[in-house]
Amino acid sequence: GLPRQAGAQSSAFPTRPITMVIPFAAGGPTDVVGRLLAEAMSRDLGQPVVVENTTGAGGTLGAQRVATARPDGYTILLHHIGMGVIPTMYRRLAYDPVNGFEPLGLVTEVPMTVVTRKDIPANNLTELLSYMKSQGDRFNLADAGIGSSSALCGALLSNAIGVKPTVIPFRGTGPAMQEILGGRVDLLCDQTTQTTEHIRSGAVKVFATPSRTRIGTLPEIPTTAEAGLPGFEVTVWHGLYAPKGTPAPICARLTQSLQAALREPRVIERFSAIGTTPVSQDDATAEAHRRFWTADIAKWKPVIEATGSYAD
Ligand code: MLT
Repeated sequence: GLPRQAGAQSSAFPTRPITMVIPFAAGGPTDVVGRLLAEAMSRDLGQPVVVENTTGAGGTLGAQRVATARPDGYTILLHHIGMGVIPTMYRRLAYDPVNGFEPLGLVTEVPMTVVTRKDIPANNLTELLSYMKSQGDRFNLADAGIGSSSALCGALLSNAIGVKPTVIPFRGTGPAMQEILGGRVDLLCDQTTQTTEHIRSGAVKVFATPSRTRIGTLPEIPTTAEAGLPGFEVTVWHGLYAPKGTPAPICARLTQSLQAALREPRVIERFSAIGTTPVSQDDATAEAHRRFWTADIAKWKPVIEATGSYAD
């Protein structure tokens, strides 16, 4: 055939399926957001966006998989607030947790909730905290490993009241939630993307949201500050990434597709049912994402140093 013009390749992108790596277990909060996004992006890109759950080590294995992938736009990462805490929490990694990526845009913000097995002997946050204190390390807390939002929230909560519960790590809060539902683990800090249905059905007990304001879709839940534990806030954000060195026109095409996905009424509707609103079109850009991400790393650094939540 004829020789290809420079640029023809990127304007044709994508010509085959794209892999979207999700660093936590299938069925959990990141997976729910990722799959909705992948479906919508496939519609815009005209190629399947195939989700791959590369789990383990608090979300760092999935991130590593993308940081070390070929930078051609065919392997992308849907990650979250972990991208803001991992650079401080992990002192040894097989990839560069900041410079290994091209941020493509923010996706959405998700509130967290503090939930327990439904038969816990406590009916408000104050009672829960005294129960935790009385139980010491007999109290079990599930999380998705250091680097996850559940682990960050669990560490901040334990630290705020000076307790050291037994921490049981899972490959995501999907499997962790099964233990809460089965009554085998006491507490999980988790996102409304997963907890909403279990809170509504009464399968778990909910005590507070570690957000600045109450959650629009679950207005009966007090904030941690209202429930007696001020100065403690964690809200999950999601971002989309390509490996460092992915050509700018390809990154721009992926950002465009992210923006198209976030404008789709059915995506907005599905997000809203699980307590989250897609970010504005201005925030679904590489520049806004980079600014936000840099500020988030700086914000968490002293908090992590104060709690000593390190991976090694
Ligand atoms: C998950 O998808 O399993 C969660 O987002 C992990 C977490 O951050 O707790």
